[in-house]
Amino acid sequence: MPQLRATLRQGLHTLLAHQVPSAQLAAELLLMHVLGRDRAYLHTHSDEDLPAEDLDRYVQLIAERSTGKPTQYITGHQEFWGLDFEVTPDVLIPRPETEHLVECVLELARLHGHAKDARLRIVDVGTGSGCIALALASEFPRAILFGADISRAALVVASRNAVRLNMPERVKFLESDLLGRLLAPDFAGTFDFVLSNPPYVGRNEVDKVQREVREFEPRLAWGGDLESGEEVYGRLFPQTLRALRPGGHVVVEIGYNMRDRVLASLGNDWDEVVVTPDLAGIPRVVSARKRLP
Ligand SMILES: C[S@@+](CC[C@H](N)C(=O)[O-])C[C@H]1O[C@@H](n2cnc3c(N)ncnc32)[C@H](O)[C@@H]1O
Repeated sequence: MPQLRATLRQGLHTLLAHQVPSAQLAAELLLMHVLGRDRAYLHTHSDEDLPAEDLDRYVQLIAERSTGKPTQYITGHQEFWGLDFEVTPDVLIPRPETEHLVECVLELARLHGHAKDARLRIVDVGTGSGCIALALASEFPRAILFGADISRAALVVASRNAVRLNMPERVKFLESDLLGRLLAPDFAGTFDFVLSNPPYVGRNEVDKVQREVREFEPRLAWGGDLESGEEVYGRLFPQTLRALRPGGHVVVEIGYNMRDRVLASLGNDWDEVVVTPDLAGIPRVVSARKRLP
């Protein structure tokens, strides 16, 4: 029976041979997944022997990862905003940079005097795993949240995440083309926040996208079939104006080179337009306030 240390080294070697990015991390996460243990255990028990069935399972997962399949689709988990989300190939894997969108909402709520127990009305368009909506549900316990997505399969995963995170009644998930179903008279003009991390990779950028994304994440989620990348914003902003109450905010994530085009498609009905960079200094989040009459 090989020791954990030797198994990990062999896993790493295979992943490196297949040019898997962040190979060390992937080798560790997959072994942690097989053993049901944390990283500290791997390092404090590195001399321990690995049972044959665990070794077989690990070799199988390393082979899967070597095909380019993201680690998160193999383990079925991704952390976002300190919460553990189930992810399947039906949803985009939540990205750390999307946490800037959540931070931006918290900051705007603070600046505009909304207490944590405010009954804010928030909608997350293109909710995917539900990560943005559920992160905000955890921050604003009395908020009324909606998560909209055109993908029924994604909504099933989002609903399961709401149950896993003990917030099954906090977010209402619904099938909708952008804000389509939330513009009925009962909803229009009532929202404090419209949020979205929409698909934004245009056809001409597909070859710049990592193999892991291109071959394994849903194209509907990252946007490989879009004509340009920003046409979704062009549809979303006019709908958002109808959905928000005066003084409400739109907060969207944007692609690395889109700032000027997205700002141009916002139009003139907004105040307090702010572009927030991510940790790499790339313009990442655009927020704006619907003008008061
Ligand atoms: C970039 S993913 C974002 C997922 C999640 N909000 C996140 O940040 O990880 C975009 C999501 O938008 C959904 N989507 C794509 N086109 C849509 C449309 N026309 N209306 C509603 N949702 C759409 C996709 O199914 C996908 O779940």
